[in-house]
Amino acid sequence: MKKTLVLGACGQIGTELVLTLRQKYGEEAIIAADLKEECPLIIKNGPYIQLDALDKQQVRSYIIENNVKEVYLLAALLSATAEKNPDFAWKLNMEGLFTILDLAKEKYVDKIFWPSSIAVFGPTTPMDKTPQHTIMEPTTVYGISKQAGERWCEYYSLKFGVDVRSIRYPGLISYKSLPGGGTTDYAVDIFYKAKEQVKFNCFLKEDTALPMMFMDDAIRATIELMEAPIENVKIKSSYNLAGISFTPADLAKAIQKEMPNFQIEYNPDFRQAIADSWPNSIDDSMSTQHWGWQPKFDLDGMVREMLTNL
Ligand code: NAD
Ligand code: SER
Repeated sequence: MKKTLVLGACGQIGTELVLTLRQKYGEEAIIAADLKEECPLIIKNGPYIQLDALDKQQVRSYIIENNVKEVYLLAALLSATAEKNPDFAWKLNMEGLFTILDLAKEKYVDKIFWPSSIAVFGPTTPMDKTPQHTIMEPTTVYGISKQAGERWCEYYSLKFGVDVRSIRYPGLISYKSLPGGGTTDYAVDIFYKAKEQVKFNCFLKEDTALPMMFMDDAIRATIELMEAPIENVKIKSSYNLAGISFTPADLAKAIQKEMPNFQIEYNPDFRQAIADSWPNSIDDSMSTQHWGWQPKFDLDGMVREMLTNL
């Protein structure tokens, strides 16, 4: 049986990715791994191992001894947390990637998924419909680490034939797992407050447009990219991906359509500067052309799913 490892499996994306991969390929084929001792209840149905992405020897031995052939490397510090601990963010976000890239270079691993982010863009990037190939001068430690990671993925692909695939995820919105310290987390927190019937205190200004996506679309995109024939995966750094672009005010209005009494106030903090450096919307036409990407969820559809399922 071909074994797949999801490293960073207890987080916002990993939890849902493990669930979906297990539905598709079987429970025993997908090994969830994370620094945490225990995994969330909803992924207790299959194998779980406590692994530190920074422990190179432990990760190498596990992958080689267990014949793991595909790795989804999700362990990272996100934008807001990374700004508070830049040295460690750089270490975690880069060292774990090299460990897995080297295992693929040595032919132990056949295929890697490594996520990038809209954070690779910066204040000098065209903000609307940001193209795949454009100015990239990120001003956050998180964005710098993702941009460097993209360059290394492309380098290992071109020089050593490593099959590594990547998406520049927008801000992700989900109800099965909580976000882990990003600038786009407000767009998840807002639903918890709406359901509790409490006024939401938003840490971004009302007119801050950001690219976002409902988790179902993000997981489907990830698996579609990983299953695409190698000749279709022409971009070896990372693909732009777009879902829905909205401001906190747009999101509040969409929630008020379902819950007319919902209230919001705006008190921007340090995350405003991060959001201001990122695009408003993304041009993902290359993902559509190369591997057939089509998002399914619009703003109202996403809001209904969140309010129904939370
Ligand atoms: P998250 O913070 O929710 O989860 C990360 C997981 O990694 C956590 O469970 C954490 O315990 C684990 N982890 C941390 N350090 C580890 C280590 N040393 N060894 C093993 N596990 C460790 O993050 P997420 O939102 O699920 O993001 C996953 C990846 O996707 C990250 O690379 C992130 O940059 C990227 N991404 C996420 C978003 C988003 O909106 N969620 C957007 C763009 C890119
Ligand atoms: N959602 C992520 C963050 O805000 C973007 O990569 O950090």
